[in-house]
Amino acid sequence: MSDSSPVAEDSALFAEDLAEAADLDRSDPLAWARELFWAGAAEPPYLDGNSLGRLPKRSVRRLLQVVEEEWGRGLVRSWNRWMDLPTKVGDRLGEVLLGAGPGQVVVADSTSVNLYKLAAAALDSLPGRAVVVTDRANFPTDRYLLAGLTANRRLNLRLVEFDEVMGPTPEAVSTAVGEDTALVLLSHVDYRSGALVDMAGISTVVRDAGALALWDLSHSVGAVPVSLDDSRADLAAGCTYKYVNAGPGSPAFLYVSRHLQGRLRQPIWGWMGKQDPFAMEQPYTPREGIGSFLSGTPPILGLTLVEEGVELLAELGIERVRSKSLALTSHLIGLADRRLAPLGFQLATPRDAGRRGSQVTLRHPRARELCARLDGSGEVILDFRPPDRVRLGCAAPTTSFTDLARAVASLAGAAVELTSKDAG
Ligand SMILES: Cc1ncc(COP(=O)(O)O)c(C=O)c1O
Repeated sequence: MSDSSPVAEDSALFAEDLAEAADLDRSDPLAWARELFWAGAAEPPYLDGNSLGRLPKRSVRRLLQVVEEEWGRGLVRSWNRWMDLPTKVGDRLGEVLLGAGPGQVVVADSTSVNLYKLAAAALDSLPGRAVVVTDRANFPTDRYLLAGLTANRRLNLRLVEFDEVMGPTPEAVSTAVGEDTALVLLSHVDYRSGALVDMAGISTVVRDAGALALWDLSHSVGAVPVSLDDSRADLAAGCTYKYVNAGPGSPAFLYVSRHLQGRLRQPIWGWMGKQDPFAMEQPYTPREGIGSFLSGTPPILGLTLVEEGVELLAELGIERVRSKSLALTSHLIGLADRRLAPLGFQLATPRDAGRRGSQVTLRHPRARELCARLDGSGEVILDFRPPDRVRLGCAAPTTSFTDLARAVASLAGAAVELTSKDAG
């Protein structure tokens, strides 16, 4: 006797999805990389690597070694080795993940502080221009720090509404900038929709207007190959705790294109940005080059974890990471079309793979309740962004196709339960 109840039908579909996912996992050339990361036994699918990346096993060993040997035994003498880490790790991050030649990246401070330093330096370099442009939907910290900077300087902040799913395009940016524009701050990959924007095209539009472009790379670094030099980007910053797996609160990075380094001066004049910090003499004379964007003592433990995260990605290869990420997000969109669209979910991420970062966002009128339910049951780890978005992060080295099938089944199950609760 066949059981044709909706529950039995759902579990048959889920079994089908799981079998398909298992095949994809077997032929995944990057499947082995999961073993490089710490994971608990019988853990739920983790689809939130776009908030906090997983812990690489080797980072634990390296951190212990730095703590015991370099700090414990070496004590203050270890500063001989530590002093150059912000520029050394910056160069390596630039080479492996950012398409940036040496001498243009440092690892220091947080993303918020770095964006502030770069935006302030840019505004000081263009005193005759009164307008700063950003995306109305940009990440809050980006908008807030621009609001503060423009309020302090009596400048105008132009919050532009771009397409909700596709984000800013060169054409749309060209209508928002003009000869009054000093700075344009945009995200390379949007934190809500996961849209990947045309960095080279937009940088050209901004440059042609005589303004400077500042990029937030938090959702692209480590997930999408970035070509700062080739895109002729001016300035960039981003975090290392998502796809670089350097841990909560790990230091961020900033990039200043070589051609701007003599022209820009950052606002936080600390001793680490000064020539010969230990000379202790009165006047502040900035260091030559990218080192002038440093301010205070480097966070050595965090820098160590950034270095490990970058080396791990160098081993995996950012192109291989990208191609698995696209396979994951394409597969997830296919599953969402089949299993979730009939339950009221709507895709809020570009379908065009070339315009996608490493996450899939779905909208549902009851997303908040659905996510709270899944949070409570612990079946899957994903996140909710108000008012109605569910984000499913697909960090390629640590996400399997089976994780995606399980997450979709959980979302579908929660949506069906909500509806039947209402009906009952
Ligand atoms: C796009 C973007 N910018 C900035 C940040 C956070 O900046 P900070 O590390 O300074 O808190 C985030 C955090 O998720 C982000 O997604």
